[in-house]
Amino acid sequence: MSGTNWKRTGRCAELNDEYLGQEVILKGWADHQRDLGGLVFITLRDRSGMMQLLIDEESPASAFETAQKVRAEYVVEARGIYQKRQDPNPDMPTGDYELHVSDLRIVNRSKTPPFYIEENSDTKDSLRLEHRYLDLRRPDMMRTLMLRSKVSGITRRYFEEEGFVDVETPMLGKSTPEGARDYLVPSRVFPGYFFALPQSPQLYKQLLMVAGVDRYIQIAKCFRDEDLRADRQPEFTQIDFELSFTDEEEIMAITEGFLARVMREVKGIELELPLPRLTWEEAMTRFGSDKPDLRFGMELKDISDAVKGSSFRVFTGALEAGGSVQCIVVPGAGDSSRKVIDYYTEDVRRFQAKGLAWFSPGDEPRGSINKFFTPEELRELGAAAGAEDGDLVLIVADQLDVVRASLGGLRQTIAKENKLIPEDSFNFTWVTEFPLFEYSEEEDRYVSKHHPFTQPMDEDLELLDSDQGKVRSRAYDIVCNGYELGGGSLRIHDPELQERMFTLLGFSAEEARSQFDFLLQAFEYGVPPHGGLALGFDRLVMILAGTSDIRDVIAFPKVQSSADLMTKAPGPVSEKQMEELRLKTAAGLNEKDSED
Ligand code: AMO
Ligand code: AMP
Repeated sequence: MSGTNWKRTGRCAELNDEYLGQEVILKGWADHQRDLGGLVFITLRDRSGMMQLLIDEESPASAFETAQKVRAEYVVEARGIYQKRQDPNPDMPTGDYELHVSDLRIVNRSKTPPFYIEENSDTKDSLRLEHRYLDLRRPDMMRTLMLRSKVSGITRRYFEEEGFVDVETPMLGKSTPEGARDYLVPSRVFPGYFFALPQSPQLYKQLLMVAGVDRYIQIAKCFRDEDLRADRQPEFTQIDFELSFTDEEEIMAITEGFLARVMREVKGIELELPLPRLTWEEAMTRFGSDKPDLRFGMELKDISDAVKGSSFRVFTGALEAGGSVQCIVVPGAGDSSRKVIDYYTEDVRRFQAKGLAWFSPGDEPRGSINKFFTPEELRELGAAAGAEDGDLVLIVADQLDVVRASLGGLRQTIAKENKLIPEDSFNFTWVTEFPLFEYSEEEDRYVSKHHPFTQPMDEDLELLDSDQGKVRSRAYDIVCNGYELGGGSLRIHDPELQERMFTLLGFSAEEARSQFDFLLQAFEYGVPPHGGLALGFDRLVMILAGTSDIRDVIAFPKVQSSADLMTKAPGPVSEKQMEELRLKTAAGLNEKDSED
């Protein structure tokens, strides 16, 4: 068993009609083998797709014997005549063709794989990830890897054409405050000191602007130790760029040009530019979310005024406490069952809503709040909500942020459940004028919504000391189909304003100095005005691939616990490594490992 020195003619799905009637050589894995007695079929697979191998009585006896021994996932090499099939298979892209084999070699055998290698497999995730190299052999996974590679090629070409310089920034660096927990790497030379893996290249790209690079791009690895979600991984990739002497308009135009190119080359879709824009306030008001999904309606409606005189304490109580009463309307869903309403009620509890009131206007109104309203009042309420007879009105009364988050979330849930989302549609929007700060209950202070280098809007500068919560920033997100695809901002280039920002964020002068000394120093040597943006590369590919699981577009992803099931990372290290780093694990922590 060894590889032949045959030169491969091409890949399974890449031969064209010019090869018909000619001898060709293909190499790959046996997807499956069917032995029909006098006839053996092998479906050969490589990264391009499949090709049927036909071994019959005309094939030499040696090839026939070999074919009988072939099992799933054996590596084989075949030589034969490329011909039209007598019984084409319309379900297979190459189903019109086959290779009539004249010579066949088994190059390597395979154990029986732990799961079928097939498209859209429903194999358990953990098994797939443990044997990711087999999982990646699945045609849909392979297509996604190639899609990802294609998008990275488009990225490099586009930004190069636009005059951007590709610069790599360090992985071993200093902690960057993007708001997540850092991954730390202990230093051997400086015991007790740590490098931080970058949460993003933010500080470096700003320093490249000070250096005069003018336009920087990097497809950059980022690391954030945070709770994982379906669209979040602890290590992920950004299309990260920064420009000098610029403004929002230019940064948005460059981003739009890039997205238009990607949509054209990958999907054959012409994006209509410029993309729509919503201010943060408008997005929150209409959709209850700063990453609104614009593929369907069901916008939030404020009915506080319509209910303020009612006898329903849940509503009036929330209003008296400074809150709000709002609703969404599900068209024609007034006859929803108790079970469905209960399901929706559970859904809003995810966002701390205390309940979900509902009614359906009509001649015989149904609902959970009927006893508190006369039919006439319900009709008025329905009108205020913009509901027609037979629609379902779903209401949350609470503090504004709870109302928005829960109805925004419910809107998404209902759209998914009721299949209101058109397939293969891509609705991009900008969200602008984000608040500069957000209040952190945990830390009992204002923290940066984006990062501490973001410029406040000029018109709000005077609010910096008086009403921090109201200050808007020159930050913008690009959103697609309900995902935050990217975010960026104009940066502060005034050293004094930057120092003031650190103070407002609760850094003492010493802390700011010790953490960002290099940045503040650099800013003393002539900083050009600058700004930029970073797109989540994995999320972009995820949206293009039509999946909602980011792990589908990453070759070797981590699971929920941030572990890698294939390599079993993280794992213990040797005593010697620990000694070199002068590290000790707290007693007990490593017991399991030392038992193993
Ligand atoms: P931000 O933190 O918004 O901005 O990140 C930019 C984009 O990166 C993607 N992203 C992620 N993707 C997968 N898993 C994660 N854990 C994850 N975290 C973020 C998102 C997000 O929109 N330095 C700034 C950019 C700038 O100001 O220029 C930054 O990192 O798609
Ligand atoms: P109750 O009077 O507690 O039986 O509630 C009557 C209806 O109001 C039920 O449908 C509850 O789910 C709903 N409800 C309770 N709290 C809230 C709230 N904060 N916002 C909206 N509806 C609520």
